[in-house]
Amino acid sequence: MKIAVVGTGYVGLVTGTCFAEMGTEVHCIDIDTAKIDQLKEGVIPIYEPGLEEMVVRNYKAGRLNFSTDLESVLDEVEIVFSAVGTPPDEDGSADLKYVLEVARTIGRNMRNYLLIVTKSTVPVGTSRRVKAVIQEELEKRGADIPFDVASNPEFLKEGDAVQDFMSPDRVVVGTESERARELIHRLYKPFMLTNYRMIFTDISSAEMIKYAANAMLATRISFMNDIANLCELVGANVNMVRKGIGSDTRIGSKFLYPGCGYGGSCFPKDVKALIRTAEKNGYDMKVLKAVEAVNEKQKEILFDKLNRHFNGDLKGKTIALWGLSFKPETDDMREAPSLVLVNQLLEAGAQVKAYDPIAVPEARRRVGENGDRVVFTEDSYGAVMGADALVLVTEWKEFRMPNWEILKRLLRTPVIVDGRNIYNREDIDKWGFTYYGIGQ
Ligand SMILES: NC(=O)c1ccc[n+]([C@@H]2O[C@H](COP(=O)([O-])OP(=O)(O)OC[C@H]3O[C@@H](n4cnc5c(N)ncnc54)[C@H](O)[C@@H]3O)[C@@H](O)[C@H]2O)c1
Repeated sequence: MKIAVVGTGYVGLVTGTCFAEMGTEVHCIDIDTAKIDQLKEGVIPIYEPGLEEMVVRNYKAGRLNFSTDLESVLDEVEIVFSAVGTPPDEDGSADLKYVLEVARTIGRNMRNYLLIVTKSTVPVGTSRRVKAVIQEELEKRGADIPFDVASNPEFLKEGDAVQDFMSPDRVVVGTESERARELIHRLYKPFMLTNYRMIFTDISSAEMIKYAANAMLATRISFMNDIANLCELVGANVNMVRKGIGSDTRIGSKFLYPGCGYGGSCFPKDVKALIRTAEKNGYDMKVLKAVEAVNEKQKEILFDKLNRHFNGDLKGKTIALWGLSFKPETDDMREAPSLVLVNQLLEAGAQVKAYDPIAVPEARRRVGENGDRVVFTEDSYGAVMGADALVLVTEWKEFRMPNWEILKRLLRTPVIVDGRNIYNREDIDKWGFTYYGIGQ
């Protein structure tokens, strides 16, 4: 089978590569010429464990191709996946200009039957709009070419994307055509040999499933952040509360970790987009509005703790940050809590020394050096040297077991703010640090 995947970002590159790994011939398309040139050289534009080897292997085997020219591959393929970005527009709705642009290109150039599958996260009704745009373009050409649309939302997690794609919990496909269903079933079958996990739905439900899933996960996080903040006020420990409620099988233990707020390219924008979708339909998503508000506030919690510790005077203080990406195992800094913290520290007159195992180039691009007030270091201890406090922002594995003795020696004052509750207060107390966790 031959397919095209349009948009070669986190989702498109993983999708195309994993399909190629199963033997499908894949054309990965992007408008970003530099990205495509790099990929042809075996340089991966993102950090995603396991992806690079797979890209190189499949590219060399000739199953994975990279191009900027969607038109030229349309005659060869049966399915086109659209995995372009859907960033929020000014009012928080998903901006569909890239999705509709891809549909227009397809409508203008297709000559044989195609199944067009939307993999981007898009509001309910988008696949219908994609269908209408293609139909309109075909009519302009006076062409009568059959095609189908389907919605196949993606649930991969950055940092674990290859594993998630190769062995998905489920594959959701919304389609209203038997031909489309048969094609997509054939494409995904190699991923389902031991356990069939495909869920076929109507198109609107598939589109909604993606938003509802992310909204539910974001809700759990904000709920736990609220509980953690209350724990601090009443003298309870959220780590124990989490264990106590997570062992209830109706609740389950995942996504119950409080922290410094969720970030990334998905939860913030998808929660916003779902709220807007509801508003456009005359419905008020009260729970999700609260989820969003709690998250915005939670992103300020690390600064608040530091500020309180230093009695509101952070001017001239040097603060070390461990971790900048929005979560471990990715270089993605979209909506990362670290960005909020860096801004607040700079506004308060502090200096920042930051280290991240992977995301420093991306961080440098986003925050710059701010006239030497942000310094990025080559290793974790370099960031701590001479700092007045250490803040753990992203829980990369290499931060989990630091050498407390060295840390104690390097910090000017032994203060640790643990934004992810990865340290054990008793261990740290032994070394004489002042420790602040979340909800403890
Ligand atoms: N990142 C995730 O973890 C994740 C997970 C599930 C779903 N999603 C959804 O998948 C979609 C893509 O997300 P992403 O993180 O991969 O985005 P991304 O920004 O990393 O990649 C999007 C790519 O599309 C390209 N593009 C834009 N317009 C194009 C066009 N007309 N033709 C060809 N290429 C074009 C861009 O150059 C870019 O490389 C979004 O809707 C997102 O919400 C993302």
